Amino acid sequence: MLSERSRPVIEATLPVVAQNVEQIADRFYARLFAAHPELLDGTFNRGNQAQGTQQVALAGSVAVFATTLLRTPEQLPEQLLVRTAHKHASLGVSPAQYDVVHEHLFAAIGEVLGEAVTPRVAAAWDEVYWLMAHALIHTERGLYSARGVRPDTVWRPWRVVAKRAETEDVTTFVVERADDRLVQASLPGQYVSVRVTMPDGVRQPRQYSLTRADDGRHRQFSVRRVHGGGQPDGEVSTLLCERVRVGDELELSVPFGDVVLDDSGRPVVLVSAGTGIAPMAGMLSHLAAAGSHLPVTLLHADTAEASFALREQVLADLAALPGSRAHLWFEDGATPSALAGAPRVAGVHAGLLDLDALGEDGPPAGALHYLCGPVPFMRAVRGALLERGVPARDVRYEVFGPDLWAADLAGEPAPGSAAPVG
Ligand SMILES: Cc1cc2nc3c(=O)[nH]c(=O)nc-3n(C[C@H](O)[C@H](O)[C@H](O)COP(=O)(O)OP(=O)(O)OC[C@H]3O[C@@H](n4cnc5c(N)ncnc54)[C@H](O)[C@@H]3O)c2cc1C
Ligand code: HEM
Repeated sequence: MLSERSRPVIEATLPVVAQNVEQIADRFYARLFAAHPELLDGTFNRGNQAQGTQQVALAGSVAVFATTLLRTPEQLPEQLLVRTAHKHASLGVSPAQYDVVHEHLFAAIGEVLGEAVTPRVAAAWDEVYWLMAHALIHTERGLYSARGVRPDTVWRPWRVVAKRAETEDVTTFVVERADDRLVQASLPGQYVSVRVTMPDGVRQPRQYSLTRADDGRHRQFSVRRVHGGGQPDGEVSTLLCERVRVGDELELSVPFGDVVLDDSGRPVVLVSAGTGIAPMAGMLSHLAAAGSHLPVTLLHADTAEASFALREQVLADLAALPGSRAHLWFEDGATPSALAGAPRVAGVHAGLLDLDALGEDGPPAGALHYLCGPVPFMRAVRGALLERGVPARDVRYEVFGPDLWAADLAGEPAPGSAAPVG
C-alpha cells in the first residue's frame, strides 16, 4: 500500500510524469541498453523497440499503476501485473534485474524532469517502483516455481519435426523436445516464447500461442508471416516461415500466459479474427482431448475462407465436441462456402463479425468470453458484449503484442479479473 507520506507527492507529480513518460521511457531504454547490451540479445524484442510499442506499454503501465494506487490504495492493478509477470517469466526476467531497471529508470526520470525531482519526489516514486517491482517479482517467483524452473532455465531446445503451410501467410510448426527434461504441461490458451538467432547473430524472442493440446513430447504453434507494407518485414516470423526447416533446433520457453480457459464448467465463447484463431484452436484442442460436453461457441472472422488458418484442425475439434457450434464471417463475402455444411458450423456470413446477425443464436447467458485479434476488433466485440449485459469480468482478451489497451481500460473493472492465474 502507498504510504500516506508519498500519496500527496504522487498525486501532485503524476500529471507531469504522465506528460513526460514516453520521453522518460525513451531515455530509460537508451541508458539500459548502453549499460547492458546483452539485454538486446535474447531478452528484449527489437521490433517492439523500433515501433515504440514497448516504450508506450512500459510508460502506460507506470501511469496505470500510480493511478490505481491513488484511487484504491489497497488494491494493485491485478490484470496488468499478471499479464506482465507472465511475459517477463516467458523471457527469464530475474529479481536482480529489477535493481538494474531501477537504476536506469530513475536516472532517466532525473534527466527528463531535472530539478522537479526533489529528494521527496524521488522517494515517493521510488516507493511506487518497488511496490510494483515486488508485486511482479513475487508473481514471477510463483510462476517459475510452479513450473520447476529458474529464470535461467526457462529456455529449452526443441527440434522442428513438421512444418505445414496453413494458408498463404500462416505456417504451423510441430516441435519435439530435444533434451530429456520433463515437458511442462501447458494450459489451454497459453503461449511460449520462441527464440531464434537472426542473420546478424543477435537472438530474438517472440511469443506464439500453442495451437494444440500437449501430448507430453510435442508442441505446436502457428506463425503468420508479417509483411512490412512500407516498413521492414517482421524479422522473426519471416525467418521462421521462410528459413527454418524440419530438423532445425529452436529455443522455446516453458509455457506461460494468463488468458487460459477457466475450468469452472461455464459455457465458453471464443471470438477471434485472423491469426487470433491461434489460442482458440489451442483451447478447442484441449476441450476435444478432454471429451468436453460444455456448450462452446466459436465466432471467427477472417478475410476469406482460404485465409482461415488451422481450419481443418478447428473443424475436426468442433465435430468432436457435442456441445459446440460455430459462426464464421468472411470479409470477401465469397459464398457459398464449403464450410457451411461442416458439422457444428451453424452459419457462414459475409462481411465483418456482427453479433446482431446471430439473433436467438447469440452467446449463451453466463458464458465466459475469450477474445483474440486486432485491438480495434476486440474493442468492438467487447463493447457489444458489455452492451448485451455481459459483465466486464467475463470478457478476457489476448493481445499479440505489448498490451497498449490495458491503460485505456484501467478506469473500468479489469476484464477477466476472476480468471485463474496459469
Ligand atoms: C501473447 C502473444 C501471443 C502471440 N501469438 C502469436 C501466434 O500464435 N501467431 C503469430 O503469428 N503471432 C503471435 N504473436 C505475435 C508474435 O509474437 C510476433 O509479434 C509476430 O510474429 C511479429 O514478429 P516479427 O519478428 O516477425 O516482427 P517484428 O520484426 O517484431 O516487427 C513487428 C512490426 O514492427 C514493424 N517494424 C519493424 N522494424 C521497424 C522499424 N524500424 N520502424 C517501423 N516499424 C518497424 C514491422 O513492419 C512489423 O509490422 C503473439 C504475441 C503475443 C504477445
Ligand atoms: C517495476 C518494474 C517493471 C515494470 C513496471 C515493467 C513493465 C512491463 C510491461 C507493462 C511490459 C509489457 C507487457 C505486455 O506485453 O503487455 C513489459 C515487458 C517486458 N519487460 Fe518489463 N517491467 C518491469 C521490469 C522489468 C525488468 C527488471 C526486466 C528485465 C530486464 C524487464 C524486461 C521486460 C521485457 C524483456 C519485456 C518484453 C518486451 C517486449 O516484448 O517488447 N522488465 N514490462
